Formats: sequence, C-alpha cells, structure tokens
Amino acid sequence: MKIGIIGSGKIGSILAKLWVKAGHDVMLSSRHPDQLKTLAKELGMRASVGTPEQAAQWGDVILLSIPTGEIPKLSQNVRDALIGKIVMDSCNPFPDRDGEYGVEAQREVKGSGVWATRHLPGAKIVKAFNTVYFQQLADEAHRQGDLLGVPLAGDDKEALRVVAKLVQDAGLGPLVVGDLKSAKQFDNGTPAFVSGASVHELEEILGLNIKSP
Ligand SMILES: NC(=O)c1ccc[n+]([C@@H]2O[C@H](COP(=O)([O-])OP(=O)(O)OC[C@H]3O[C@@H](n4cnc5c(N)ncnc54)[C@H](OP(=O)(O)O)[C@@H]3O)[C@@H](O)[C@H]2O)c1
Repeated sequence: MKIGIIGSGKIGSILAKLWVKAGHDVMLSSRHPDQLKTLAKELGMRASVGTPEQAAQWGDVILLSIPTGEIPKLSQNVRDALIGKIVMDSCNPFPDRDGEYGVEAQREVKGSGVWATRHLPGAKIVKAFNTVYFQQLADEAHRQGDLLGVPLAGDDKEALRVVAKLVQDAGLGPLVVGDLKSAKQFDNGTPAFVSGASVHELEEILGLNIKSP
C-alpha cells in the first residue's frame, strides 16, 4: 500500500519505519523535504520524500501526524488531495501548543477527530495512534505477548478495516471502538491515553465488550 505521511516527526517517522519493514511504500513529507532525505535513505527503496501536498496526492492512505493547531493551516491543495482518502489522524489537541485551535478541538463534545473533519471535509478520517507514546511505539511494536493496543474510531467501515490492517502490520493490536465521535473516549486526558495497554486491557479501560477485527 502507498502511505503518504504528513508530519514525519516522532510518530510519523517511527510508523514509516514499521510500515516499510512490513512491505509498504511510504512518502515522508515536510515543509522542508530536504531535511528528510537522510531518513528516507536509511529506510531504503520503499521510502521517498516530498512536500505535504505531494504526499497527500501520492498516498492511497494518509497518516496525518502534525500539531492539531496546524491542521486548519494545511493548504487548499492538501485538503483537496485528501478528499475521498483514508486519513489516519494521530493528532492530539494541547492548548499550550495548539492555541485557540487546541482549545476548540479539546472542547469539541464529539472529540478531536470530528473537529478535524470540519477542516478536512470529504476525508475519511480514522482516529488512530493518538494514544501511543512515541518511545513506546519505537520500543514495543511487535512486542512479545499481548500487543500494544491502538484504539480506532471512524465513520467509514472500509476505512476502519484498512487502518486496522495497517495497525497490525506495524506490530500493534487494533481495537475498533466505534464511529468517529467515539474517539472522544480515548482523546488525550482519558485513561486510555498513553496507557501502554494491550487490546484486552483497553477494552476494560474503555468499558467495552467488543471484538477487535
Ligand atoms: N509524540 C508522541 O508521543 C505522540 C503520541 C501520540 C500522538 N501524538 C500527536 O501526533 C502529532 C504528531 O506528534 P509528534 O510528536 O510526531 O510531532 P513532531 O515530532 O513535532 O512532528 C510534527 C511534524 O509535523 C510537521 N508539521 C508541522 N506543521 C505542519 C504543517 N502546517 N504542514 C505540514 N507539516 C507540518 C513538522 O514537519 P516540518 O516542520 O518539517 O514541516 C513535524 O515534523 C501531534 O498532534 C501529537 O500530539 C504524539
């Protein structure tokens, strides 16, 4: 699968490595793409570098992993390219970092994923990876025993299925919690957030009795 990565920082670069290892192709992107060339070289033939717009156009699926306050600042070309595409949204709202947009996203009663859809109309947003601390992601992907759990929420069933598979390919355990507004249950500040929990532990934390795909 071709995965376009918008935001190749801590989370984006670790997931890029995990997906390349699983046989996917990635395009890392930055507003300063030259700065990613060394990383792409390390990752090998399956990795390339581009601008956020190029990654948005190239990817079959997109990882959006930037500060929440930057989402409304994405260019119109990026937004247009995301229409109809699956967008994995790892972004958490932090008012100290994200300003007014962070406050707005945090106060959104339907959660930060629903807030993001207002700025990215037409994208099939799946909230994913937002609960996983980057160091734990780097150290514990493919861990022995119960895999590190990743709660997912989205309104499009096929998008959820595709993202759940990409979570598995990264060496993590997917847990579909429900529609996009159910991401409110695992936004930052909730017990599920950076808990390091497995899928079964997450089911307990979230009070769910549902099966992962
Ligand atoms: N760190 C964690 O443990 C963790 C865990 C779960 C979720 N998250 C969330 O996931 C998101 C990413 O976190 P991170 O820690 O990976 O952040 P990070 O290391 O600071 O990387 C963020 C990346 O976003 C890019 N970026 C910023 N503004 C942009 C814009 N307007 N257009 C395109 N790219 C832009 C930056 O690239 P350039 O400046 O090169 O363009 C930067 O590399 C955040 O919302 C964070 O809250 C973080």
